[in-house]
Amino acid sequence: MRTPLIAGNWKMNKTISDAREMVSSLLPMIDSNEAEVVLAPPFTALGAVNDIIRGTKVKLGAQNVFWEESGAYTGEISPRMLVDIGCSYVIIGHSERREYFGETNTSVNKKIVASLKNGLSPILCVGEKIEEREKGKTFDVLEDELGEGLKGLTPEQISKLVIAYEPIWAIGTGKTAKPEEANESHLFIRGWLKDSSGTESSKNIRIIYGGSVTPDNIDGLMAQKDIDGALVGGASLQVEGFARIINYKSPYPSLSPQGRGLR
Ligand code: PGA
Repeated sequence: MRTPLIAGNWKMNKTISDAREMVSSLLPMIDSNEAEVVLAPPFTALGAVNDIIRGTKVKLGAQNVFWEESGAYTGEISPRMLVDIGCSYVIIGHSERREYFGETNTSVNKKIVASLKNGLSPILCVGEKIEEREKGKTFDVLEDELGEGLKGLTPEQISKLVIAYEPIWAIGTGKTAKPEEANESHLFIRGWLKDSSGTESSKNIRIIYGGSVTPDNIDGLMAQKDIDGALVGGASLQVEGFARIINYKSPYPSLSPQGRGLR
């Protein structure tokens, strides 16, 4: 039985006071459904968000991490520092980090190993570009990112991960993958995990979908057997819309276009 996971990736948005306001309004709107909730604000707002979510079912996540424990690495943040500030999750290998900041499967692998060592649960992002999908290369890309990113990990370590399938062409574009289309990739990922870490542990690993998730399409995505949650970017910045995503399947409130996360 996999507990669904809904994670909000705020990317480079929100000051400390914006973050406080958002989280204070969000918490009372969250239903007691079964989903686990993770908020990943920018580094600067982690402490403030942690103060507000303490004692609730919402967990704290970071958007990136470095693999060394400490030392002369100007500008970097270690896994221990993230644990120290209250994080239990960390997003690793997001496509924006791969595209703009030179993240590779090798650095992703080091970050995963260091995070696990410190008790953080990595949310590993994988997904294909539009031209790769058009050439029928989606599964090759996934295989490569999983194979390199999880190189050397034991089945026990792999069982602690969350995998986020994020087709790059769907991120921030308003073009969501069709639920069945996303589910196919999730099935492929689960099959890969089964081959590499065994049936039992692969059954429990959550594979979540990311890429233009909104309050309008979350129910269809969550209805798929192999979609265990969502990694939400743009729509996690608006309180009402994000609350509806967290409370998927709940009665649908009437939301403004902005509240629906439509940009
Ligand atoms: P989006 O971003 O929901 O704005 O498409 C998703 C992500 O980048 O994780």
